[in-house]
Amino acid sequence: MKTNRTFTMIKPDAVANGHIGAILDQIIKNGFKPVAFKYTYLSPEMAGKFYEVHKERPFYNALVQFMSSGPIVAAILEKDNAVEDFRKLIGATDPSKAEPGTIRQLFAKSIDANAVHGSDSDENAEIEGNFFFSAFERF
Ligand code: TYD
Repeated sequence: MKTNRTFTMIKPDAVANGHIGAILDQIIKNGFKPVAFKYTYLSPEMAGKFYEVHKERPFYNALVQFMSSGPIVAAILEKDNAVEDFRKLIGATDPSKAEPGTIRQLFAKSIDANAVHGSDSDENAEIEGNFFFSAFERF
């Protein structure tokens, strides 16, 4: 079943570079409604768990270290066709390959510090939202 929700993080690089407001502006302007929202921090253990699917990839340790290097913003977003439309809005994983006007093209500097996360399936959107938000917080 298709859901109308996705999960995002504004990653440590974008938070450190002062881009929270500009990125949220893009997200909201493009029709996504934040339904759960927090400014928080991932410990290395939590970052490792969140990215467990990438455990065997060569970039895993660096990714965990980067994702726990500073505060992040986590949010659940609502929109029709949320997962697919949000992936389009953020652009390719490597910002040098991201379409003009996408969030990663505008705000990311490299493939490892790429400003935002967006779930890649409805199933993962649900899992990732549940990772950060209790049932009470995501109503
Ligand atoms: P991935 O799920 O492939 O990309 P996306 O975030 O676009 O869904 O990878 C997860 C994160 O891992 C990615 O956002 C940044 C990091 N990463 C690297 O650091 N190096 C790489 O070569 C890849 C593919 C990803």
